[in-house]
Amino acid sequence: MVSLEVSLCGLKLRNPTVLASGIRGNNAYLLIRAAKEGAGAVTSKSCSLLPREGHNNPTMMGCQPFMLNAIGLSNPGVDEEVEEIRIAVKRAGVPVIASIFAHSVEDFAKLASRISEAKPHMIEMNISCPNVHREGKMFSASPSDAASAVAAAREATSAPISAKLSPDVPNIGEIAAACVGAGANCITAVNTMGGMLIDAYARRPVLFNEYGGVSGPALKPIALKAVYSIRKAIGPDVPIIGTGGGASGLDAVEMIMAGATAVGVGSAVVLRRNAFREICNEMKAFMKENGYSKISQLKLES
Ligand SMILES: Cc1cc2nc3c(=O)[nH]c(=O)nc-3n(C[C@H](O)[C@H](O)[C@H](O)COP(=O)(O)O)c2cc1C
Repeated sequence: MVSLEVSLCGLKLRNPTVLASGIRGNNAYLLIRAAKEGAGAVTSKSCSLLPREGHNNPTMMGCQPFMLNAIGLSNPGVDEEVEEIRIAVKRAGVPVIASIFAHSVEDFAKLASRISEAKPHMIEMNISCPNVHREGKMFSASPSDAASAVAAAREATSAPISAKLSPDVPNIGEIAAACVGAGANCITAVNTMGGMLIDAYARRPVLFNEYGGVSGPALKPIALKAVYSIRKAIGPDVPIIGTGGGASGLDAVEMIMAGATAVGVGSAVVLRRNAFREICNEMKAFMKENGYSKISQLKLES
Protein backbone atom coordinates (compact mmCIF):
# COMPACT_ATOMS: atom_id res chain seq x y z
CA MET A 1 0.00 0.00 0.00
CA VAL A 2 1.51 3.33 -1.07
CA SER A 3 0.81 6.42 1.06
CA LEU A 4 1.41 9.94 -0.24
CA GLU A 5 0.74 11.60 3.12
CA VAL A 6 3.26 14.19 4.30
CA SER A 7 3.53 16.50 7.29
CA LEU A 8 4.25 20.20 6.73
CA CYS A 9 4.82 22.32 9.84
CA GLY A 10 2.64 19.90 11.79
CA LEU A 11 -0.14 20.01 9.15
CA LYS A 12 -1.18 16.67 7.69
CA LEU A 13 -1.35 16.75 3.86
CA ARG A 14 -3.09 13.82 2.12
CA ASN A 15 -0.52 14.17 -0.65
CA PRO A 16 2.49 16.48 -1.24
CA THR A 17 1.00 18.61 -4.04
CA VAL A 18 0.38 22.25 -3.12
CA LEU A 19 -1.40 24.70 -5.41
CA ALA A 20 1.24 27.42 -5.96
CA SER A 21 0.36 31.06 -5.40
CA GLY A 22 -1.16 33.04 -8.27
CA ILE A 23 -2.47 30.21 -10.37
CA ARG A 24 -6.22 29.93 -10.04
CA GLY A 25 -6.06 30.93 -6.39
CA ASN A 26 -7.56 34.39 -6.70
CA ASN A 27 -10.58 33.69 -4.54
CA ALA A 28 -12.02 31.19 -2.09
CA TYR A 29 -13.91 29.23 -4.72
CA LEU A 30 -10.84 28.68 -6.89
CA LEU A 31 -8.92 27.49 -3.81
CA ILE A 32 -11.77 25.12 -2.92
CA ARG A 33 -11.84 23.90 -6.53
CA ALA A 34 -8.11 23.06 -6.46
CA ALA A 35 -8.70 21.12 -3.23
CA LYS A 36 -11.56 19.23 -4.90
CA GLU A 37 -9.26 18.50 -7.85
CA GLY A 38 -6.91 16.73 -5.45
CA ALA A 39 -4.35 19.27 -4.16
CA GLY A 40 -2.88 18.37 -0.77
CA ALA A 41 -2.86 22.06 0.24
CA VAL A 42 -3.68 25.32 -1.53
CA THR A 43 -1.98 28.73 -1.64
CA SER A 44 -3.85 31.94 -2.40
CA LYS A 45 -2.76 34.62 -4.88
CA SER A 46 -0.45 37.10 -3.11
CA CYS A 47 -2.37 39.96 -1.56
CA SER A 48 -1.17 43.41 -0.60
CA LEU A 49 -2.49 45.91 1.95
CA LEU A 50 -4.29 47.97 -0.70
CA PRO A 51 -5.90 46.76 -3.94
CA ARG A 52 -3.59 46.58 -6.96
CA GLU A 53 -4.71 46.65 -10.58
CA GLY A 54 -1.58 44.94 -11.87
CA HIS A 55 0.11 45.55 -15.21
CA ASN A 56 -1.62 46.23 -18.52
CA ASN A 57 -1.99 43.42 -21.04
CA PRO A 58 -0.26 41.51 -22.44
CA THR A 59 0.60 39.99 -19.06
CA MET A 60 1.13 36.38 -20.01
CA MET A 61 2.54 34.24 -22.79
CA GLY A 62 2.40 30.48 -22.83
CA CYS A 63 4.75 28.59 -25.10
CA GLN A 64 5.96 25.17 -24.10
CA PRO A 65 8.22 24.39 -22.29
CA PHE A 66 7.62 27.55 -20.28
CA MET A 67 5.23 30.34 -19.44
CA LEU A 68 6.19 33.99 -19.05
CA ASN A 69 4.04 36.30 -16.97
CA ALA A 70 4.02 39.78 -15.53
CA ILE A 71 0.61 40.00 -13.94
CA GLY A 72 1.83 42.71 -11.57
CA LEU A 73 0.27 41.15 -8.47
CA SER A 74 -3.25 42.33 -9.18
CA ASN A 75 -5.34 41.60 -6.11
CA PRO A 76 -8.29 43.08 -4.23
CA GLY A 77 -6.27 44.07 -1.15
CA VAL A 78 -6.22 42.50 2.28
CA ASP A 79 -9.67 43.65 3.46
CA GLU A 80 -11.37 41.51 0.81
CA GLU A 81 -8.76 38.78 0.96
CA VAL A 82 -9.37 38.12 4.67
CA GLU A 83 -12.95 37.14 3.81
CA GLU A 84 -11.83 34.89 0.91
CA ILE A 85 -9.31 33.09 3.11
CA ARG A 86 -11.89 32.72 5.88
CA ILE A 87 -14.25 30.92 3.48
CA ALA A 88 -11.46 28.76 2.03
CA VAL A 89 -10.27 27.71 5.51
CA LYS A 90 -13.82 26.68 6.40
CA ARG A 91 -14.60 24.83 3.18
CA ALA A 92 -11.48 23.63 1.34
CA GLY A 93 -10.93 20.58 3.55
CA VAL A 94 -7.15 20.90 3.07
CA PRO A 95 -4.63 23.32 4.61
CA VAL A 96 -4.88 26.85 3.24
CA ILE A 97 -1.73 28.94 2.83
CA ALA A 98 -2.32 32.69 2.57
CA SER A 99 0.23 34.53 0.46
CA ILE A 100 1.12 38.13 1.27
CA PHE A 101 3.19 40.69 -0.57
CA ALA A 102 4.49 44.12 0.52
CA HIS A 103 7.02 46.78 -0.37
CA SER A 104 8.10 47.51 3.20
CA VAL A 105 8.93 45.60 6.35
CA GLU A 106 6.19 47.52 8.18
CA ASP A 107 3.56 46.55 5.61
CA PHE A 108 4.60 42.89 5.81
CA ALA A 109 3.96 43.05 9.57
CA LYS A 110 0.56 44.73 9.07
CA LEU A 111 -0.43 42.17 6.43
CA ALA A 112 0.68 39.19 8.51
CA SER A 113 -1.38 40.47 11.42
CA ARG A 114 -4.47 41.26 9.34
CA ILE A 115 -4.50 38.04 7.28
CA SER A 116 -4.11 36.01 10.50
CA GLU A 117 -7.66 37.06 11.40
CA ALA A 118 -8.82 34.52 8.79
CA LYS A 119 -6.81 31.79 10.55
CA PRO A 120 -4.91 30.43 7.54
CA HIS A 121 -2.95 27.27 8.27
CA MET A 122 0.20 29.04 7.11
CA ILE A 123 1.27 32.43 5.76
CA GLU A 124 3.55 32.50 2.74
CA MET A 125 5.59 35.69 2.36
CA ASN A 126 6.14 36.53 -1.28
CA ILE A 127 9.46 38.34 -0.93
CA SER A 128 10.54 37.33 -4.42
CA CYS A 129 8.21 38.53 -7.17
CA PRO A 130 10.34 39.40 -10.22
CA ASN A 131 7.71 41.48 -11.97
CA VAL A 132 7.65 44.52 -9.75
CA HIS A 133 11.35 45.36 -9.88
CA ARG A 134 10.70 48.91 -10.90
CA GLU A 135 8.88 49.39 -7.64
CA GLY A 136 11.94 48.38 -5.62
CA LYS A 137 14.34 45.55 -4.89
CA MET A 138 13.14 42.06 -3.96
CA PHE A 139 13.55 41.42 -0.23
CA SER A 140 14.82 37.96 -1.12
CA ALA A 141 17.78 39.45 -3.00
CA SER A 142 19.81 39.62 0.20
CA PRO A 143 19.96 37.61 3.45
CA SER A 144 19.58 40.71 5.65
CA ASP A 145 16.61 42.18 3.73
CA ALA A 146 14.88 38.79 3.65
CA ALA A 147 15.50 38.30 7.37
CA SER A 148 14.17 41.73 8.30
CA ALA A 149 10.89 41.12 6.42
CA VAL A 150 10.46 37.69 8.03
CA ALA A 151 11.33 38.99 11.50
CA ALA A 152 8.70 41.74 11.21
CA ALA A 153 6.00 39.27 10.17
CA ARG A 154 7.11 36.83 12.87
CA GLU A 155 6.43 39.48 15.52
CA ALA A 156 2.97 40.08 14.06
CA THR A 157 1.56 36.53 13.83
CA SER A 158 1.68 33.17 15.55
CA ALA A 159 0.81 31.33 12.30
CA PRO A 160 3.57 29.27 10.67
CA ILE A 161 5.43 31.36 8.10
CA SER A 162 6.97 30.22 4.83
CA ALA A 163 9.38 32.56 3.05
CA LYS A 164 9.13 32.33 -0.73
CA LEU A 165 12.48 32.81 -2.42
CA SER A 166 13.71 33.81 -5.86
CA PRO A 167 16.04 31.64 -7.95
CA ASP A 168 17.64 34.84 -9.33
CA VAL A 169 20.39 34.94 -6.67
CA PRO A 170 23.81 33.35 -6.32
CA ASN A 171 23.30 32.31 -2.68
CA ILE A 172 19.78 31.00 -2.15
CA GLY A 173 20.92 28.65 0.65
CA GLU A 174 22.32 31.56 2.65
CA ILE A 175 19.10 33.55 2.13
CA ALA A 176 16.97 30.59 3.24
CA ALA A 177 19.11 30.15 6.36
CA ALA A 178 18.70 33.86 7.17
CA CYS A 179 14.90 33.51 6.87
CA VAL A 180 14.88 30.49 9.17
CA GLY A 181 17.09 32.40 11.61
CA ALA A 182 14.53 35.22 11.59
CA GLY A 183 11.66 32.88 12.43
CA ALA A 184 10.46 31.30 9.17
CA ASN A 185 9.04 27.80 9.77
CA CYS A 186 9.22 26.79 6.12
CA ILE A 187 10.78 27.83 2.82
CA THR A 188 8.98 27.93 -0.51
CA ALA A 189 11.41 27.66 -3.40
CA VAL A 190 11.15 28.99 -5.99
CA ASN A 191 9.24 31.91 -7.43
CA THR A 192 9.49 32.53 -11.17
CA MET A 193 12.85 33.43 -12.73
CA GLY A 194 13.16 36.80 -14.46
CA GLY A 195 12.93 36.63 -18.25
CA MET A 196 11.59 38.32 -21.35
CA LEU A 197 10.37 37.59 -24.86
CA ILE A 198 10.75 39.76 -27.97
CA ASP A 199 8.28 39.91 -30.82
CA ALA A 200 10.60 40.28 -33.82
CA TYR A 201 7.79 41.34 -36.17
CA ALA A 202 6.51 44.02 -33.85
CA ARG A 203 10.09 44.87 -32.83
CA ARG A 204 9.12 45.16 -29.18
CA PRO A 205 9.00 43.11 -26.00
CA VAL A 206 5.98 40.79 -25.87
CA LEU A 207 4.85 41.74 -22.38
CA PHE A 208 3.64 45.22 -21.57
CA ASN A 209 5.95 45.16 -18.54
CA GLU A 210 8.86 44.09 -20.82
CA TYR A 211 10.19 41.71 -18.14
CA GLY A 212 8.28 38.80 -16.70
CA GLY A 213 8.76 35.60 -14.73
CA VAL A 214 9.54 32.25 -16.33
CA SER A 215 7.66 29.26 -14.95
CA GLY A 216 6.78 25.75 -16.09
CA PRO A 217 8.99 22.84 -17.20
CA ALA A 218 11.96 25.07 -18.17
CA LEU A 219 12.21 26.12 -14.52
CA LYS A 220 12.57 22.57 -13.21
CA PRO A 221 16.38 22.17 -13.17
CA ILE A 222 16.73 25.63 -11.60
CA ALA A 223 14.19 24.77 -8.90
CA LEU A 224 15.83 21.40 -8.21
CA LYS A 225 19.20 23.07 -7.69
CA ALA A 226 17.63 25.70 -5.44
CA VAL A 227 15.85 23.13 -3.27
CA TYR A 228 18.94 20.92 -3.08
CA SER A 229 21.17 23.79 -1.99
CA ILE A 230 18.60 25.14 0.48
CA ARG A 231 18.30 21.69 2.08
CA LYS A 232 22.08 21.59 2.50
CA ALA A 233 22.05 25.06 4.06
CA ILE A 234 19.14 24.68 6.50
CA GLY A 235 19.53 21.04 7.52
CA PRO A 236 16.91 18.30 7.61
CA ASP A 237 14.25 19.74 9.92
CA VAL A 238 12.74 22.81 8.26
CA PRO A 239 10.24 21.89 5.53
CA ILE A 240 10.59 23.12 1.95
CA ILE A 241 7.74 23.51 -0.56
CA GLY A 242 9.71 22.73 -3.73
CA THR A 243 8.12 24.70 -6.56
CA GLY A 244 9.10 25.14 -10.21
CA GLY A 245 8.34 23.09 -13.28
CA GLY A 246 6.57 20.27 -11.48
CA ALA A 247 4.17 18.78 -14.01
CA SER A 248 4.36 15.00 -13.56
CA GLY A 249 4.64 12.40 -10.83
CA LEU A 250 8.27 11.90 -11.70
CA ASP A 251 8.94 15.66 -11.41
CA ALA A 252 7.38 15.55 -7.93
CA VAL A 253 9.44 12.52 -6.90
CA GLU A 254 12.62 14.23 -8.09
CA MET A 255 11.75 17.41 -6.19
CA ILE A 256 11.28 15.39 -3.00
CA MET A 257 14.56 13.58 -3.64
CA ALA A 258 16.23 17.01 -3.94
CA GLY A 259 15.04 17.77 -0.42
CA ALA A 260 11.48 19.09 -0.71
CA THR A 261 8.81 18.14 1.82
CA ALA A 262 5.94 19.09 -0.48
CA VAL A 263 5.72 20.08 -4.13
CA GLY A 264 4.24 23.36 -5.38
CA VAL A 265 2.28 23.00 -8.60
CA GLY A 266 1.67 26.17 -10.62
CA SER A 267 1.94 26.24 -14.40
CA ALA A 268 1.01 22.56 -14.65
CA VAL A 269 -2.49 23.46 -13.51
CA VAL A 270 -2.77 25.50 -16.71
CA LEU A 271 -0.75 23.19 -18.96
CA ARG A 272 -2.29 19.90 -17.90
CA ARG A 273 -5.84 18.72 -17.24
CA ASN A 274 -6.52 17.27 -13.82
CA ALA A 275 -2.92 18.05 -12.80
CA PHE A 276 -3.12 17.22 -9.08
CA ARG A 277 -4.78 13.81 -9.54
CA GLU A 278 -2.54 12.86 -12.46
CA ILE A 279 0.64 13.86 -10.60
CA CYS A 280 -0.46 11.85 -7.55
CA ASN A 281 -1.41 8.80 -9.63
CA GLU A 282 1.96 8.92 -11.37
CA MET A 283 3.78 9.29 -8.05
CA LYS A 284 1.95 6.26 -6.68
CA ALA A 285 2.74 4.23 -9.80
CA PHE A 286 6.44 5.15 -9.60
CA MET A 287 6.58 4.32 -5.89
CA LYS A 288 4.81 0.99 -6.31
CA GLU A 289 7.03 0.00 -9.23
CA ASN A 290 10.18 0.89 -7.32
CA GLY A 291 9.31 -0.56 -3.92
CA TYR A 292 8.55 2.61 -1.95
CA SER A 293 5.57 2.69 0.41
CA LYS A 294 5.89 6.21 1.85
CA ILE A 295 7.19 9.60 0.82
CA SER A 296 9.92 9.72 3.48
CA GLN A 297 11.67 6.85 1.67
CA LEU A 298 12.24 9.03 -1.41
CA LYS A 299 15.81 10.12 -0.82
CA LEU A 300 18.89 10.49 -2.98
CA GLU A 301 21.46 7.77 -2.50
CA SER A 302 24.15 9.03 -0.12
C1 LIG B 1 0.37 33.51 -13.80
C2 LIG B 1 1.23 33.37 -12.58
C3 LIG B 1 0.97 34.17 -11.47
C4 LIG B 1 1.76 34.04 -10.32
N1 LIG B 1 1.46 34.80 -9.22
C5 LIG B 1 2.17 34.64 -8.07
C6 LIG B 1 1.82 35.35 -6.90
O1 LIG B 1 0.86 36.12 -6.85
N2 LIG B 1 2.59 35.15 -5.79
C7 LIG B 1 3.66 34.28 -5.76
O2 LIG B 1 4.29 34.13 -4.72
N3 LIG B 1 3.98 33.57 -6.87
C8 LIG B 1 3.27 33.73 -8.01
N4 LIG B 1 3.59 32.99 -9.13
C9 LIG B 1 4.71 32.04 -9.06
C10 LIG B 1 4.22 30.61 -8.79
O3 LIG B 1 3.60 30.53 -7.53
C11 LIG B 1 5.40 29.62 -8.84
O4 LIG B 1 6.31 29.93 -7.83
C12 LIG B 1 6.11 29.63 -10.18
O5 LIG B 1 5.17 29.75 -11.23
C13 LIG B 1 6.95 28.37 -10.40
O6 LIG B 1 6.16 27.22 -10.36
P1 LIG B 1 5.59 26.48 -11.68
O7 LIG B 1 6.75 26.25 -12.59
O8 LIG B 1 4.97 25.21 -11.15
O9 LIG B 1 4.58 27.40 -12.27
C14 LIG B 1 2.83 33.12 -10.29
C15 LIG B 1 3.09 32.33 -11.42
C16 LIG B 1 2.31 32.44 -12.55
C17 LIG B 1 2.62 31.57 -13.74
